Amino acid sequence: MALWGGRFTQAADQRFKQFNDSLRFDYRLAEQDIIGSVAWSKALVTVNVLTAEEQQQLEAALNTLLDEVRTDPVRILQSDAEDIHSWVESQLIEKVGALGKKLHTGRSRNDQVATDLKLWCKMQVEALLSATRQLQQALVATAEANQDAVMPGYTHLQRAQPVTFAHWCLAYVEMLARDESRLQDTLKRLDVSPLGCGALAGTAYAIDREQLAGWLGFASATRNSLDSVSDRDHVLELLSDAAIGMVHLSRFAEDLIFFNTGEAGFVELSDKVTSGSSLMPQKKNPDALELIRGKCGRVQGALTGMMMTLKGLPLAYNKDMQEDKEGLFDALDTWLDCLHMSVLVLEGIQVKRPRCQEAAEQGYANATELADYLVAKGVPFREAHHIVGEAVVEAIKQGVALEALALADLQKFSSVISDDVYPMLALQSCLQQRSAKGGVSPRQVALAIDAAKQRLDN
Ligand code: ARG
Repeated sequence: MALWGGRFTQAADQRFKQFNDSLRFDYRLAEQDIIGSVAWSKALVTVNVLTAEEQQQLEAALNTLLDEVRTDPVRILQSDAEDIHSWVESQLIEKVGALGKKLHTGRSRNDQVATDLKLWCKMQVEALLSATRQLQQALVATAEANQDAVMPGYTHLQRAQPVTFAHWCLAYVEMLARDESRLQDTLKRLDVSPLGCGALAGTAYAIDREQLAGWLGFASATRNSLDSVSDRDHVLELLSDAAIGMVHLSRFAEDLIFFNTGEAGFVELSDKVTSGSSLMPQKKNPDALELIRGKCGRVQGALTGMMMTLKGLPLAYNKDMQEDKEGLFDALDTWLDCLHMSVLVLEGIQVKRPRCQEAAEQGYANATELADYLVAKGVPFREAHHIVGEAVVEAIKQGVALEALALADLQKFSSVISDDVYPMLALQSCLQQRSAKGGVSPRQVALAIDAAKQRLDN
């Protein structure tokens, strides 16, 4: 039976009921709804709606229900209750009879759903924070094992300057560290309890909402009842966090997909995260990474969808807001899955050093070195840039690397060039030179690895 039967003489059209019901997705809030209900029952004792004994009876029944729900969460789906709030209430009434009907005193599903969803978000953020850290740890471990793997760094997808695989890994550690801090910010702002705001105007029972918030593990209680039941900023913020996090993962995936191509051949992905072709026996496709890259789309869609749902909504609660859950659940599940999958990809990755080195040696990635060499000999940088450009054209013409040009050839472009140029053009020297903070020199990379490890150990 619906919660609001008294006012109605006709039953809802079955098609409308299906359209309106949210149980098929909000059943995931069962634990939070029960925990919120236990806290609410305690609050009702403080305003003499329930006796201590009645409250104990309700709490015991709710805890039994919690156990049942934890053992078999999908059992809920067999019910035709409208939503998780009506389901919990009806189960409670089934367990304790008429006493269960007292629980909803002074409470509305509007403050209830806002509370449940915030509790769920807090739990989910913990899982996301932990997965974000796991991926950072996997990246740092991969960096540590590949400090000497030189490979080309790119701009415009053109070989630009040599880097190391370790330095590449650490770039993603930085992105994930920002994702982590965004989640922590979100957590701080959402940590306020809407419970006790009633339908919109506040509850008519003199409940200590700060105490109630504390019982539920919130830092404090919200300040305005109208805002409390209609605020979904935390949903928007979490979806933004997810949208940005997924953009990062899609770039990570795309880099690795490219590194894994036959053309680049810098890495080989493990059989555990690749699949074959039904037709072409030679193929080993980077499906895990392609799915990570692809799933970025639906997460952006969830953010845009929710922005549009909330746009122009009048205060306070409107049924539109029931649309907050499916997108949020899907986006956060997807983000979490992709973080886990990225760890799995890294665990089995093999960096093919000779091929990386070979690619770094081609493509004139040391041209900047030659310009810097000329600058050290007193040539202004703009002029040096031009000279090196000409030397590169000559090297291309001869089909060799810069360091393979004869000294006499190099001297045609600038008389200041002498024998000491060759050690400068070696890959190791290119790396070594970039020793300012954040650069690719082996020493800086080792320092960065240590710093990241320390941060992640805390
Ligand atoms: N299922 C609803 C939701 O998810 C719960 C709140 C319903 N409140 C109401 N007054 N109909 O938003």
